[in-house]
Amino acid sequence: MARIGVVGAGYVGLTTAACFARLGHTVVCADVDEAKVSALSRAEVGAHEPRLAELVADGLASGRLRFVLGNRPALSGVDFVFVCVPTPTGPDGEADLSFVHAVLEEAREEVGPDCVIVIKSTVPAGTTERVAAVVDQPVVSNPEFLREGHAVDDFLRPQRVVVGAPGPRDGGARDAAVRVAELYEGTGAPAIVTDSASAEMVKYASNCFLAMRLSYVNSLAELCERVGADISDVTEGMSLDDRIGSAFLEPGPGWGGSCFPKDTSALLSTADAVGVDFSLLRATIGTNRRQAERVVGLVRDAVGPLRGARLALLGLTFKAGTDDLRDSPALAVAELLAAEGAVLTGFDPCVARDCGPVRVTGSAEAAAEAADGVVVLTEWPEFAELDWSDLAAAMPGRVIVDTRNLLPADKVAEAGFR
Ligand code: UDX
Ligand code: UDX
Repeated sequence: MARIGVVGAGYVGLTTAACFARLGHTVVCADVDEAKVSALSRAEVGAHEPRLAELVADGLASGRLRFVLGNRPALSGVDFVFVCVPTPTGPDGEADLSFVHAVLEEAREEVGPDCVIVIKSTVPAGTTERVAAVVDQPVVSNPEFLREGHAVDDFLRPQRVVVGAPGPRDGGARDAAVRVAELYEGTGAPAIVTDSASAEMVKYASNCFLAMRLSYVNSLAELCERVGADISDVTEGMSLDDRIGSAFLEPGPGWGGSCFPKDTSALLSTADAVGVDFSLLRATIGTNRRQAERVVGLVRDAVGPLRGARLALLGLTFKAGTDDLRDSPALAVAELLAAEGAVLTGFDPCVARDCGPVRVTGSAEAAAEAADGVVVLTEWPEFAELDWSDLAAAMPGRVIVDTRNLLPADKVAEAGFR
């Protein structure tokens, strides 16, 4: 078993630290956020990730996991350092690597000569190669494929482990990459050891392909509405072709979260920087940007002029199963509706505070009180179980715009809604 340092205790770093401890390694997890470090040391986990709090508590109890303040204590006395700090979108759409570079600067001084530095943060192809040129210790790329709401499962039962080493195929970094792949042996997943640019590209290529698939199905849904086809039956028909499959074929208010918007923008920025016209990716992003306006158009067509219209938004997070509001399409729609003068209430099982222009209530019924219309924006399963006759009694309006095709249309119609 290995001694592992993890820098950054966010969704990615905390999951990495807790799961490596679960796999039997000894882990020290660092963060610069003092409140976060003290909460985690008491096994108080903020993220809404199933099983994560339990794994953190187990790790603390077994002594295999501990949390420290500041990056440095996770950089010495360890065999591997996993860099899990943010790579947000920069001003021109490129990936901002300032946090990664700052950690690597510290690592150069603190990390032992045999320690392997592992970049787990999502970084543009070529980053590890460039970093390896200025850092003496071996540096490898090991991208994460964690979905929010499924992070622990995706780490402990990954579909693949990808590790990339800069430089020649028989170089020292390649041995380091093999050692990193061995850390995941407890998961039983297939491992790909390749060069670092390819490893970095797998992450962007996968996320951008999924985003492209969603922009395709969102445009297809718009076309189906115009020609009188039913998108649910169309996607079911598509999914029976095992080359297409059924995942990621649900139309919605657009794709969001802390990864797709950042990764599509960063890959397009990389393509532009090297003179490749990745028009399919540009169109994927453009289609997604227009999706919020398309939803507002549907609402306006359904309830009439938006100025003064009272609308109840069901779902505010970027998808069901998480509390994450980062780049949530629901909030993009809310901002546009409010800009046209709509008065917004909202309910989301994982959101307790008011969000932007939305006055957040404690239940769907409370949000729908006195509303002219309801807009379903996040696919929380409980919304499909609501008592629509109760809602009809509380609402003057009889309009529902379901951007996730979640609700039982017959029951909703029986309660008098359109
Ligand atoms: C983010 C990106 O979303 C993901 O694509 C990338 O691969 C890793 O970084 P996430 O865990 O969601 O993943 O970030 P976030 O939840 O914002 O947490 C980052 C943590 O790093 C924060 O707690 C921050 O305090 C901490 N941090 C940041 C450090 O500990 N040290 C630093 O130098 C910078
Ligand atoms: C994604 C990737 O799935 C994961 O592998 C990667 O490591 C990080 O980014 P995540 O950002 O948690 O994970 O969200 P995901 O579950 O992929 O959903 C992304 C967006 O697509 C969400 O806004 C979601 O609502 C939307 N979506 C997803 C749809 O609109 N329809 C679908 O059928 C599936």
